[in-house]
Amino acid sequence: DLGGYPHYMAKEIQEQPESVERIIRGRLDDRFGVARLDGLNLTPRELRGFARVKILGCGSAYYVGQIGATMIEELARIPSDAEAASEFRYRNPIIEADTLYIAVSQSGETIDTAFAVEEIKRKGGRVVGLVNVVGSTIARACEGGVYLHAGPEIAVASTKALTNMAVGFALIALALGRVRDLSNADGQRIIDAVRALPGQIKAILDFEPEIAEHAKTVAAAKSLFFVGRVRGYPVAREGAQKFKEISYRHAEAYQTSELKHGPLALIDESLPTVAVVPSDELTERNLAAVQQIKARGGAVLAVTHADVDFGELEVPRIIVPKTEPELDPILLTIPLQLLAYHAALTLGYDIDKPRNLAKSVTVE
Ligand code: BG6
Repeated sequence: DLGGYPHYMAKEIQEQPESVERIIRGRLDDRFGVARLDGLNLTPRELRGFARVKILGCGSAYYVGQIGATMIEELARIPSDAEAASEFRYRNPIIEADTLYIAVSQSGETIDTAFAVEEIKRKGGRVVGLVNVVGSTIARACEGGVYLHAGPEIAVASTKALTNMAVGFALIALALGRVRDLSNADGQRIIDAVRALPGQIKAILDFEPEIAEHAKTVAAAKSLFFVGRVRGYPVAREGAQKFKEISYRHAEAYQTSELKHGPLALIDESLPTVAVVPSDELTERNLAAVQQIKARGGAVLAVTHADVDFGELEVPRIIVPKTEPELDPILLTIPLQLLAYHAALTLGYDIDKPRNLAKSVTVE
């Protein structure tokens, strides 16, 4: 049931304030500044014992996994990374007993992710799931997990499930952090920020008409860059992925820091860049890169915070509300969903069922 929306993707984007409420409901413990994740089936002692975190997923779930890895490193200071499950399962991965493996999947049926889970279990690793569909193959195969409670997602391009994955990682990072060096006060700081997310998402969605105008401009280009650095890089990757999936435009994600080491040669009037420029310790570096792109005639659209001062640079901006720096990627991703949606709408493509793609790839 489309409930009055023109597409499922539009509906699912708009549902995000409520779907985020659902993943956090009953899971925030204000007294101890921690997340309560009983479904993980891990004792505090077990949580404390992990020396590493490895996140596995495919497509957008893999990119959100990268967002999650950064959150876990920042809040829990545990070395963490994300890898495409489709690669992991084929490369005879080293499975370590003191690594926490996290499988991320909306459907819970993606065959590459399911195989990665089996490989981890076969070799004695500990794997938990961050899954939307209750009782799905991956959810059942994992030894515990956190359900996303995003509700059914119909559009092939994932939106509300991804946002809940990112929020789920914030909760896991909190749980891992609070059995280590994260203080009760810092835990509470994150809890307060998590609680504010639904209202902030709503505020971003209110800017849809402006974002739709930006989408018309970027849809005119044959090819574009999405750039970000550190926390912003997986945001750029997911933004480019969404753009490719439904607008069939070549969209390439790059670390902003790497532009000068090669791809800057491609920049001219025909190649616009969507730049993720949060207000944080890297703002000045990001602005310097924007300046370099502009100096070569490239157009820039910035996804940024209100207090970032672009000075003389004439850059159209999508302003996102500020949260705690560790959680910024959750909100920075939302306007990129709307940008891809409206670009595809302008170009007249089938938004909910893009060509050549399935909602979940369940066969080899
Ligand atoms: C891909 C879909 O095949 O699977 C992507 O096209 C999706 O949109 C990916 O992100 C992973 O799916 P799931 O269900 O495992 O999250």
